[in-house]
Amino acid sequence: MSTFKTIQISQTGGPEVMKMVELEVGEPSPDQIRIRHLACGLNFIDVYQRTGLYPNAMPLTLGMEGAGIVEAVGENVTHLKAGDRAAYASNPPGSYSEARVMPARNVCRLPDAIDFDTGAAMMLKGLTVQYLLKRTLPQGGLQAGDFILFHAAAGGVGLIACQWAKALGLQLIGTAGSDAKCKLALEHGAAHAINYSTEDFVARVKAITGGKGVKVVYDSIGKDTFERSLDCLRPFGLMASFGNASGPVPPFAIGILGAKGSLHVTRGTLFTHIATREATQEMANDLFEIVGSGKVKIRIDQRYALADVAQAHRDLEARKTTGSSVLTP
Ligand SMILES: NC(=O)c1ccc[n+]([C@@H]2O[C@H](COP(=O)([O-])OP(=O)(O)OC[C@H]3O[C@@H](n4cnc5c(N)ncnc54)[C@H](OP(=O)(O)O)[C@@H]3O)[C@@H](O)[C@H]2O)c1
Repeated sequence: MSTFKTIQISQTGGPEVMKMVELEVGEPSPDQIRIRHLACGLNFIDVYQRTGLYPNAMPLTLGMEGAGIVEAVGENVTHLKAGDRAAYASNPPGSYSEARVMPARNVCRLPDAIDFDTGAAMMLKGLTVQYLLKRTLPQGGLQAGDFILFHAAAGGVGLIACQWAKALGLQLIGTAGSDAKCKLALEHGAAHAINYSTEDFVARVKAITGGKGVKVVYDSIGKDTFERSLDCLRPFGLMASFGNASGPVPPFAIGILGAKGSLHVTRGTLFTHIATREATQEMANDLFEIVGSGKVKIRIDQRYALADVAQAHRDLEARKTTGSSVLTP
């Protein structure tokens, strides 16, 4: 049994509750692997878990995305072996660590052309874009030329969505909190960008779509945007809520969906989509292919030592980051 450095919380709270501790990491059980992390991904869900918005048992090692070298595999694991390069998005959390033992199900072999930092920056965010654009669709699906609205378009998930939507021929209207972030979204394939800190995004979406509205809104902002996002949809449109960066969506009267045009609402989470090994690999193959093709580039705009994770959380919550952020153990 060896000990490894790990970022743990023993209570929920601000960034200061994250402490570096030494933990023993043992051998994997039959359906598990042990991985040595070379890079860990930073995600907004880590903030929800740290603050307690998403409850977990304590103490907790945070982090749901990572890349590294497989050190050992349990006897039931056939898709990986010791020495493999690998990357994952996975529940339960635990990637803010030098090494961990974890379920093998969501861990994928990382193609040789993809480096570890990129692997750690793209699995949770890229698989999320995969399920949003390919598996979270309005009645009749999405066709080339269709308009969609994607909030926080210059963030980690957002910049991947801009590029992937363009590759699918979709006209992604991106929102972001500054003109500089809007420029970034446009440079990554957004057809239009709206600075929702200074502009009325409902009016702009109506103007861009000739008054019709979009087929889908992908909304990870939650409380601050939910209701106005509904006003951006065309009749029968789909509100795909998938996050709470500004706080959770408050309860609402279901009747407003009828009044606003027979709308649909869904609230997805990646972990339902990657519940099985087969689904994980199928979605990951799609992600590896589009990244390998160069049509989606994974932008790492912030790098931190794992020991500086509190600063990484402060920057993410203060909306100072763009693209993906990577923590180095
Ligand atoms: N359900 C799922 O399966 C799933 C999976 C992955 C991610 N997500 C969600 O997708 C979103 C993006 O994740 P990410 O890790 O890539 O983060 P991110 O987009 O890089 O960062 C969050 C962004 O949200 C925007 N934002 C708007 N209001 C905010 C507020 N009050 N506080 C903080 N940020 C605010 C900011 O961009 P602007 O300054 O441009 O507004 C900020 O940069 C998160 O909400 C996350 O929870 C959901």
